[in-house]
Amino acid sequence: MEIFAVVYYSQAHYSFREEQLIALARKAEERNQRLRVTGFLQYRDGHFFQYLEGKQYKVLTLLGHIKRDPRHTILRIVPLGELPTRYLDHWHMRYIGQHILAQYDLIDLLHIVLDRISAGVYDQEILQRRILRLVQKISAYDRRKEQ
Ligand SMILES: Cc1cc2nc3c(=O)[nH]c(=O)nc-3n(C[C@H](O)[C@H](O)[C@H](O)COP(=O)(O)O)c2cc1C
Repeated sequence: MEIFAVVYYSQAHYSFREEQLIALARKAEERNQRLRVTGFLQYRDGHFFQYLEGKQYKVLTLLGHIKRDPRHTILRIVPLGELPTRYLDHWHMRYIGQHILAQYDLIDLLHIVLDRISAGVYDQEILQRRILRLVQKISAYDRRKEQ
């Protein structure tokens, strides 16, 4: 199956607490499981960063729903195109808090990606490569945990 992936960066309309984020991701998980969409959700300083992968039309349909959600406004969407593989096989929507990023040593990489996205001017290809590296790293840690 061809896997299509996309990330977006959005501005939350209010400040989310950790338990609200966990609840949001839990609800998303149920629907994503049915759609066979996997990914992660990250939140920092009033902004969401979400990665979605799956069949293209399913990912885009879901993104359409998420876009209309009044809890945030999407500022930037970065399509990553077709992937050679699904990276986060069993994370239907994993909320990644700061402590997990710290544990995985991913904060710097994520911040580079987010700073580039929010700066507005960026080289799409470099950004896509950085985002994929981030996803691959998260995927590698995920696999290690499974063993
Ligand atoms: C930042 C953010 C990320 C979301 N991610 C997902 C998701 O991955 N899957 C999902 O089903 N809903 C997600 N939602 C919720 C959807 O926007 C929407 O509320 C839900 O799909 C129900 O849509 P409906 O009311 O049109 O049926 C997310 C919402 C926000 C604010």
